[in-house]
Amino acid sequence: MKLTVVGGGSTYTPELIDGIAGRRTSLAVDEIVLVDPDEHRLGIVGPFSQRLLAHAGHPAKVRTTTSLEDGVAGASAVLLQLRVGGQQARASDETFPHVCGCVGQETTGAGGLAKALRTVPVVLDIADRVRALAGPDTWIVNFTNPVGIVTRALLQEGHKAIGLCNVAITFQRWTSALLGVEPSTVELEHVGLNHLTWERGVRVNGVDRLPELLADHAEGLAEHIGVDSALMRRLNMVPSYYLNYFYNHDAVVQKQLKEPSRAEVVAAVEKELLDIYADPSVVTKPEQLGQRGGAYYSEAAVQLVHALTGGAGAERHVVNVQNNGTLPFLPDDAVIEVSSTVDHTGGTPLPVRPVEPTISGLIAHVTAYEHLALEAALHGGRDRVANALLAHPLIGQHAKADRLADELIAQNRDLLPWA
Ligand code: G6P
Ligand code: MN
Ligand code: MN
Repeated sequence: MKLTVVGGGSTYTPELIDGIAGRRTSLAVDEIVLVDPDEHRLGIVGPFSQRLLAHAGHPAKVRTTTSLEDGVAGASAVLLQLRVGGQQARASDETFPHVCGCVGQETTGAGGLAKALRTVPVVLDIADRVRALAGPDTWIVNFTNPVGIVTRALLQEGHKAIGLCNVAITFQRWTSALLGVEPSTVELEHVGLNHLTWERGVRVNGVDRLPELLADHAEGLAEHIGVDSALMRRLNMVPSYYLNYFYNHDAVVQKQLKEPSRAEVVAAVEKELLDIYADPSVVTKPEQLGQRGGAYYSEAAVQLVHALTGGAGAERHVVNVQNNGTLPFLPDDAVIEVSSTVDHTGGTPLPVRPVEPTISGLIAHVTAYEHLALEAALHGGRDRVANALLAHPLIGQHAKADRLADELIAQNRDLLPWA
């Protein structure tokens, strides 16, 4: 099987390769093609990826190319993990919303909108070429943020796509460690939208262990997540750490104003990682990669590709898929992130019991924003940008929406096809 990674020059790629190396008996990959416009990065990440595989005894060959056409032709699955505008654009996303006292974040709020506007046209163009060159049966696995909006764009255009994020698998790993059970035995009742999710159940062998987790481990979880343990207990759910940007918005902004942006931190980590990857004596995944947010991303991705390419039968995974009535208060074409059954036909959401009003309104609110964000990404125009911002629960005020629309467009002009 040929697996293609678009954005393969990313410092995350070795994380993915490490997952493939560890799954050599089940995922039958014999060729991995890393596609990236950045030849310098390809020249480092490609050979390092090959060393990782060889060291693990995995027979797959790694090839690098700057040509998307060459990279995707004949691929069984194409993973999208690109970042339009790089860390520089991310730094802008994480800071320009501060002019209105709003959170600066790469996927949430105005920064997330900027990322969506830059990314959707690029990803749709790539997907068209995947369909033409790899064929209509090739799965597109999208990790490109904002995953909900980008996956919605892909599905709306009829692509064979599914969205993936590591938040759920990370939670599965934390809780299995806390409960002292095998990660694979933990079934989450995970609900919401990408980067706007809650765990409403944590079943191990049919028994919901969430009450025990909330009773005994909420403080420990709160340290990872940032959301107060008392709030988790009151909601009777565990929110993802992205809910921190909502539940503690003003405090997060105050903190952001005093600290370097995540983009700056990541740029430094990336520099260090590339130096390590370039050292021919390094043949295993360096510990420093753990400083990035993508923990367990590899395992989630490899398991998902395995299920989508028919190697696993039906498996339970948390994925981003079309709603189709699963959450009855959302439009059918919304993309939701829920526990699903995945096989070679794709992801089918498992039924969700009625969602508590403590969270259903916020989910619906952000879904409407995502719809408007996609309209703005597809058709452009300052009014569409301002409407999306107005509809975002963290912005909402007319003056802020207009100011942030102008700021967003000014800072992203070179990366927006219509601006
Ligand atoms: C988590 C999120 C990803 C995001 C990443 C950022 O893994 O699920 O969607 O891209 O964090 O990590 P970084 O190291 O770039 O801040
Ligand atoms: Mn994510
Ligand atoms: Mn332009």
